[in-house]
Amino acid sequence: MFSFLHYLIISISILKHSTTLAQKNSGTVSIDATLTAGDKAFSWLSSSGDFALGFQQLSDNKDLFLLAIWFNKLPERTVVWSAETPNNPTRKGSKLKLTADRGLLLTDPRNQELWNSDPIISQVDMAIFNDTGNFVLVNRNSEKIWESFSHPTDTLLPTQVLEKGDVVSSRDSSTNFSRGRFQLFLLKDGNVVLDSINLPSEFTNANYYTSGTTNTNSSNPGKQLVFNESGSLYVLRENNEMFTLSGAENVSGADYYYRATLNFDGVFTKYSHPKNPTMENSWSAVWSIPDNICIKSFVFGSSGACGYNRICRLNVDKRPVCECPRGFSLLDADDEYRGCKPNFLQSCEEETKSSADSLYTFQEIKDIDWPTGDYEVLQPYETDKCKETCLNDCMCAVAIFRNNTCWKKKLPLTNGRLDSNAEARAFIKVRKSDFPLENPSSSSQTKSQNVIIIAGSVLLGTSLFVNFLLLGGVSMGFFFIYKKRVTRPQSDREVSRFNLRCFTYKDLTDATDDFKEELGRGSFGIVYKGTLKDTNDQVAVKKLDRAFQDSEKEFKAEVNVIGHTHHKNLVRLLGFCEEGEQRLLVYEFMSNGTLAGFLFGDMRPSWNQRIQIAMGVARGLLYLHEECNTQIIHCDIKPQNILLDESYNARIADFGLAKHLLMNQSHTNTAIRGTKGYVAPEWFSNMPITVKVDVYSFGVLLLEIICCRRNVDVEIAAEEKAILVYWAYDCYTEGTLDVLVGSDMEAIEDMKSLERFLRVAIWCIQEDPSLRPSMKKVMLMLEGIVQVSAPPSPFLFGSII
Ligand SMILES: *[C@@H]1O[C@H](CO)[C@@H](O)[C@H](O)[C@H]1NC(C)=O
Ligand SMILES: *[C@@H]1O[C@H](CO)[C@@H](O)[C@H](O)[C@H]1NC(C)=O
Ligand SMILES: *[C@@H]1O[C@H](CO)[C@@H](O)[C@H](O)[C@H]1NC(C)=O
Repeated sequence: MFSFLHYLIISISILKHSTTLAQKNSGTVSIDATLTAGDKAFSWLSSSGDFALGFQQLSDNKDLFLLAIWFNKLPERTVVWSAETPNNPTRKGSKLKLTADRGLLLTDPRNQELWNSDPIISQVDMAIFNDTGNFVLVNRNSEKIWESFSHPTDTLLPTQVLEKGDVVSSRDSSTNFSRGRFQLFLLKDGNVVLDSINLPSEFTNANYYTSGTTNTNSSNPGKQLVFNESGSLYVLRENNEMFTLSGAENVSGADYYYRATLNFDGVFTKYSHPKNPTMENSWSAVWSIPDNICIKSFVFGSSGACGYNRICRLNVDKRPVCECPRGFSLLDADDEYRGCKPNFLQSCEEETKSSADSLYTFQEIKDIDWPTGDYEVLQPYETDKCKETCLNDCMCAVAIFRNNTCWKKKLPLTNGRLDSNAEARAFIKVRKSDFPLENPSSSSQTKSQNVIIIAGSVLLGTSLFVNFLLLGGVSMGFFFIYKKRVTRPQSDREVSRFNLRCFTYKDLTDATDDFKEELGRGSFGIVYKGTLKDTNDQVAVKKLDRAFQDSEKEFKAEVNVIGHTHHKNLVRLLGFCEEGEQRLLVYEFMSNGTLAGFLFGDMRPSWNQRIQIAMGVARGLLYLHEECNTQIIHCDIKPQNILLDESYNARIADFGLAKHLLMNQSHTNTAIRGTKGYVAPEWFSNMPITVKVDVYSFGVLLLEIICCRRNVDVEIAAEEKAILVYWAYDCYTEGTLDVLVGSDMEAIEDMKSLERFLRVAIWCIQEDPSLRPSMKKVMLMLEGIVQVSAPPSPFLFGSII
């Protein structure tokens, strides 16, 4: 589930750093005052300290700083304005100065001017930082000569007014503040519209929302878009009547912050956040337009909210969730909004040689449509003929069948969406070899048919309002997740598997020189080094132990699942072998060994390298948990199972194998597959095994990465230090982080990150699995996108380790 909304993390200590380090708190700034990016005095505060203007360090690039205004008292960093310049973010050492003749002046470390607030007509006397979040430059007569509210970026705040011709632009992504594709416009004719532009051009696609307050519709067109103090958003008409978009909130603005943000996915949302952050931890969406971006953003000449070749469905917060249909994979594994690429492109040459039906087949998905991708419509028609004509047409990527009509669609597929009213059956052309274990006649086994409605667990730990939304969503039937399944094994082996090689046992005895050089012993067997005789590629060959020997089908199913995973932080499976009793898996060889060797060796690796590795492991786990077709729980995350490639990227090994064991054994102690010291407490109780077991192990691993020592080290003389999870928590509560990392100066100098990482680790090792964050949240916290609140003691149930 998209996860800003759940995970109640209570008790947040208000940002100590920014309040103590920022300059004086009077809400005014005098001429010649300066701020320096990366410096201790990095912000100016509004009078009550609710807002800050200054330099925000970017989470994904520590050397870059964004000149911005943000909510200063909230645990999560919420930027509401940023200076619009191609050189924002800027480098460390850049300066912001308030000048009398140029207004705000941003210069780079070599004193080159990067940006200034607009040309101004009279001399600036001082700046007033209003507690509404408006940064105002005034002249000697106290007249406003420039204000941040007149130059909105992606967010409006209460008391802010948008004038005719003004625009609010989305940012590029959640972390990139460059201008994005979507805009909210108050047109000169009085209409408020949402539309998208085809960057880098200014070409505007058709509106996907309009308020209708134009001068052609009415003698009384809109004049301003107002976000008033009570949180009401309305179009003020020429005759001062109001056209309300979203009414006032009945909870007072004294207790809640409000903002209205055009999100990077095109949804304009009003959010509220309790001012007392101990009550709740995140922004709740209270209103948004359009009501369904997946359907409304569909316009010709644009990809829709999700990018090309996608399926868009609506999340509870009315924001889109984007998925690749079967047969497609993400263009950029790190960016789920950039669209998907087909796993193959059908050649039109090939058709002359062999008949299409031996090469291609269809995956059927119900209630999906790409309404703008047709190139041919056939009517009246039958389902089978519809499929056949698409199969034999090398241009055809998808056929949609509904009401005796057959639509043939070409690539790229645009504006894909889930549409339960459509009663459409989508037939997606796939290469047979990509789906070896799927029986084409049972292709109704596809993902979307396993839609289930979830309720229970998600209802815990969210705000009343979100719960209300959830219930509403459930009853309206648009809120669901896909139940993930192992695909059905097929009995024959007629096809070679998805980019996987099928090796003979002899191939592998040759490659490994009769299993001569042992690389390590993993959870399910021994790994040997080898060199493939035909390609000379170095490989790691894993000889599986008895676990899989009795079950050919399960083995194939698992291989198929693993073969479909592609991520830069996973070790890639190249092929497999099954002959008689023998089950072997062939992986790419990782030249820099295991993380255990790297961390616990003689040389302490650098802090930065360790941070990168921790991020890599988190990314890989996030992919396994939430992003690949079949959810994979690793069950045995530990430094021995993390390998390092030639560039020292972390690559998770040994995933996808544990499921088999989980399914076949009850949760008794014999089923515990994890490794002592890394396994979550629920393995020892009757609690269900979920992805949270991996989060626990990741927490332990993260502590080891921070401290460069093993979790359990009985050789350490001081007893209180022998078990890292206890000792780390002690050091955390006592504030002795320097002791924890020993003489690691790099870590000590990066105290903020160190503390953040430690907090994340302690959240992950909570004995109560429901308190542990999801990997998505872990990722956001590690990157510094979400602030990490102070974790409670992880040891609620007493010690088990
Ligand atoms: C702050 O903004 C509010 C609303 O626009 C205004 O009424 C108030 O006078 C401003 N305060 C200062 C100190 O300018
Ligand atoms: C943000 O996105 C823009 C446009 O995609 C790109 O040019 C820019 O390099 C990105 N900035 C950062 C800091 O990643
Ligand atoms: C804001 O607008 C609403 C109407 O939408 C009105 O009821 C409310 O009184 C206004 N609040 C203020 C402070 O003007």
